Amino acid sequence: MTQVEHGRGSAVVVAIDGPAGAGKSTVARELARRLGYVLVDSGALYRGVALAARERGVSWDDGDALGAMTRQLKLAFVSEPDGTPRLQIDGRDRAGEIRSPEISMGASRVSIHPPVREALLGVQRQLGAAGGVVLEGRDIGTVVFPQAQAKIFLTASAAVRARRRVDELQARGEGVDYETTLADVEARDRQDSTRELAPLRPAEDSVLLDTSGLPLDEVVDKAQLIVQQRMEASLS
Ligand code: DC
Repeated sequence: MTQVEHGRGSAVVVAIDGPAGAGKSTVARELARRLGYVLVDSGALYRGVALAARERGVSWDDGDALGAMTRQLKLAFVSEPDGTPRLQIDGRDRAGEIRSPEISMGASRVSIHPPVREALLGVQRQLGAAGGVVLEGRDIGTVVFPQAQAKIFLTASAAVRARRRVDELQARGEGVDYETTLADVEARDRQDSTRELAPLRPAEDSVLLDTSGLPLDEVVDKAQLIVQQRMEASLS
């Protein structure tokens, strides 16, 4: 059971899943802040595996070698003051190196391998075990925490998601063009939702939120309402 009692009521597990660029990171971060919960960015773990593999000369297509490597990595998060989780690999901050388009594609590639998913499953369950946590990813509500009390599936059109990605990367000083980004978003969608193991899909008991035309603070309001309703339901 993932639910634990805290002084301020019950601390639950909140699962936020959806494709790249649906607004998951922003919504999950703001929601965690409002709830006073810890945020776990599961995509960062897959990104960390892709980065570590490239450094060690392990192929992104060699599932067994990737699994063996992943089991040896010490993956952890340290929170920035605003709650943003920063990935550490073997005690070293790698948050600045895992957001490039190359590592994005690598993360999607390594994520198809069962030994990688299995190794990261244990890491994610450990990080969420105490409750009072928002986990964001692709398969949190379906595989990692199927018993999560609140599940939200965020979506948005590919065009809106590509535009957000371009703005995000440009804000970081990385020059990218819209057409290439849109093609990347569509390629990653295909790869993430057609893989055999834990494909990207909404859990049956998740609430679907389309963020295409909505400002993100309105999405957060809606998400918070969903979590509050689920918390009340799980207490009654
Ligand atoms: O959320 P993100 O863009 O940082 O995720 C990077 C990749 O990691 C994504 O393309 C697929 C994979 N991933 C996954 O397979 N399962 C998750 N729970 C999170 C991410």
